[in-house]
Amino acid sequence: MQIQSIWSSTSDMPSFKKLESDLNTDVLIIGGGIAGILCAYFLKESGIDYALVEGKTICSGITKNTTAKITSQHGLIYDKLLNDIGVEKAKMYLKANETAVKKYMDLCRNIDCDFEEKDAYVYSCDNKEKIEKEIDALNKLGFNAEFKNQIPLPLEIEGAIKFSNQAQFNPLKFIQHISKGLNIYENTFVKNIEGNTAIYDGGKITAKNIIVTTHFPFINIHGSYFLKMYQHRSYVIAIEGAPDIDGMYLDENEKGLSFRNYKNLLLIGGGSHRTGTEGANWNELREFSRLNYTDAKEIYAWATQDCMTLDGMPYIGQYSATTPNLYAATGFNKWGMTSAMVSAMMLTDMVRGKANEYAEIFSPSRSILKGQLLVNGFEATINLLNFSAKRCPHLGCALKWNNAEHTWDCPCHGSRFTEEGKLIDNPATGNINLDK
Ligand code: FES
Repeated sequence: MQIQSIWSSTSDMPSFKKLESDLNTDVLIIGGGIAGILCAYFLKESGIDYALVEGKTICSGITKNTTAKITSQHGLIYDKLLNDIGVEKAKMYLKANETAVKKYMDLCRNIDCDFEEKDAYVYSCDNKEKIEKEIDALNKLGFNAEFKNQIPLPLEIEGAIKFSNQAQFNPLKFIQHISKGLNIYENTFVKNIEGNTAIYDGGKITAKNIIVTTHFPFINIHGSYFLKMYQHRSYVIAIEGAPDIDGMYLDENEKGLSFRNYKNLLLIGGGSHRTGTEGANWNELREFSRLNYTDAKEIYAWATQDCMTLDGMPYIGQYSATTPNLYAATGFNKWGMTSAMVSAMMLTDMVRGKANEYAEIFSPSRSILKGQLLVNGFEATINLLNFSAKRCPHLGCALKWNNAEHTWDCPCHGSRFTEEGKLIDNPATGNINLDK
């Protein structure tokens, strides 16, 4: 069994040189995950001068650990959106994500990336009413979603919602192809941004516009992302010897499981918990596999980390109200594939001064309900005041030891470090000194 994602072991990523001097460009993209690379791809297509810098190697962060479902079905979000932001804005959210699905279909048609059109299902094991309410909400938005009372999984369900014509693929094979020929610099770690200048370990990069696609935005003085976002860890196993389920499936319960196939393997995801808190890790997935797929063999196991926003929608657009030429894309709430595509389509418009119809609903400066902000602030304050010798270099919270993955994890905003103190996941921008 391998502790790495199936995508990492089935792709052959290109490498790019390190930036060794100062640079001047029209658009600088910081962060080489799928959102940043799609931005670079569209900017190149539009003939815009750009450069992308990545602190490590491209897709070495979260992109390699996704389950790579391309769908506008984001759990049971539409009934919530209808109530929270109204029918017109909920329609915009759906349209943005459906457009993203179609864009992948167009792009992937001629790319060898194991792209397959599949239906997506969200099911409930104990609450039919929730499923019916979501279908009602979708009807109000003009979307044709079907009710199903059976799915090909070993689960008793109360009902499921089917979205037709969604998709799944191998994200690293996709990036392997589209990143060829892009102006990318790897091992170029940006530590700070001052006005229109990014400071990296080897010099300065000046740009008319800067896009931050570093998973969690790392500049604290603008945008207050540390107040309006937190991170979740979740886990995946890929097993051999389980049936083909011909679709993508997700439990509406946030503690539930998710499923899809990749070739002859079945991917089972779940075990989600706030980073830096106790979780079941892979145990629950292994137990499910042992009970339901008795002859199956585990081939891969991996974990991932997601930025969660307080209202369930990503933050895409101007980094803060006072930074006109600085942009961010983050808070994908576990729907990284479509959100990355929406981000790239929006941000390439914005840096060209073109109005984008989705700018308002995804704006990082939109108002967030005060109650949600308080809950997140409370979590951070508890961990800030907690006595522990191991402090996070981001904003000083007490780090927690993660016994399953042998890492130091921060419960405040989700930075993670190896056993030796080396930075794994941001928003921290440096290592911890464990000798102190
Ligand atoms: Fe913010 Fe640790 S990630 S204090």
